[in-house]
Amino acid sequence: MLEVDGLVKAFGGFRAVDGCSLKVEKGEILGLIGPNGAGKTTLFNLIAGALQPSAGTIRFLDEDITALPTDARFHKGLVRTFQIPHEFHNLSARENLMMVPPHQPGENLFANWFAPGKVRAAEEAVRHKADATLAFLELTHVADERAGNLSGGQKKLLELGRTMMTDAKLVLLDEPAAGVNRTLLRKLEEKILILNRERGYTFILIEHDMEMIEKLCHPVVCMAEGKVLIQGDFYAVRSDARVLEAYLGETPTAIEREAAEHDPKVEELREQELHREDL
Ligand SMILES: Nc1ncnc2c1ncn2[C@@H]1O[C@H](COP(=O)(O)OP(=O)(O)OP(=O)(O)O)[C@@H](O)[C@H]1O
Ligand SMILES: [Mg+2]
Repeated sequence: MLEVDGLVKAFGGFRAVDGCSLKVEKGEILGLIGPNGAGKTTLFNLIAGALQPSAGTIRFLDEDITALPTDARFHKGLVRTFQIPHEFHNLSARENLMMVPPHQPGENLFANWFAPGKVRAAEEAVRHKADATLAFLELTHVADERAGNLSGGQKKLLELGRTMMTDAKLVLLDEPAAGVNRTLLRKLEEKILILNRERGYTFILIEHDMEMIEKLCHPVVCMAEGKVLIQGDFYAVRSDARVLEAYLGETPTAIEREAAEHDPKVEELREQELHREDL
């Protein structure tokens, strides 16, 4: 479905992505791991078209999309979410979803003059889809809430919801678990699995939460210093000497993050998150 070949992204003399090649097959949830600064988000930016590569090619559904702009990739079903949610915080959760579908007839002033009925019908359909998406994500109770007031986890669910407002085929998820409390994390995992198994979504999932990678992802790819170190089954990747070395050479390591999980300050933040869920 997606084939990345020899991709390079240089920022000045520094190569954030340095000859990266990988393949994603339809139906997979490919886990992308690697220490901080490995080039994972930069790779997503290249695949989504937010950055142009210095070298290499990207093929999606048997077509070379290396030179295509972001919106053209989006219309082909290649959709990404952000490491930090990009919600419009003054709009409601529902309105945020309704913003997504491209080419709404209402955007065209002339359509409003000459075919107001058509515009209303299209808007009605989009609203219906947004409500169905909110129901799927179990966010109906916050449909009219300002998105800025949602908890971190609810914002991540809303990000996932944005991908459901289009006909997404391949969804790039950048750290969906970051800042999400345990309860919502389980929900997020469950929704990703349903979208994958029942709705035919293919995913690439960047995540530092190894439990989530273990539960959802096959295969797993580990990147370090802009390159793919290894691709394989979670357990094989986890125990690979090169992977351990890559993680141990960087700070903070996954192991330190694990330790931070039990840091009272982190626990306190999680606790606050939990209370906000009562919205
Ligand atoms: N626009 C930019 N200009 C210069 N350097 C950049 C730019 N974007 C990213 N980098 C650098 O490229 C490297 C890879 O960054 P990237 O964000 O892709 O890492 P990552 O694997 O997503 O890390 P993390 O797990 O912390 O999110 C980092 O050293 C980063 O500082
Ligand atoms: Mg990143």
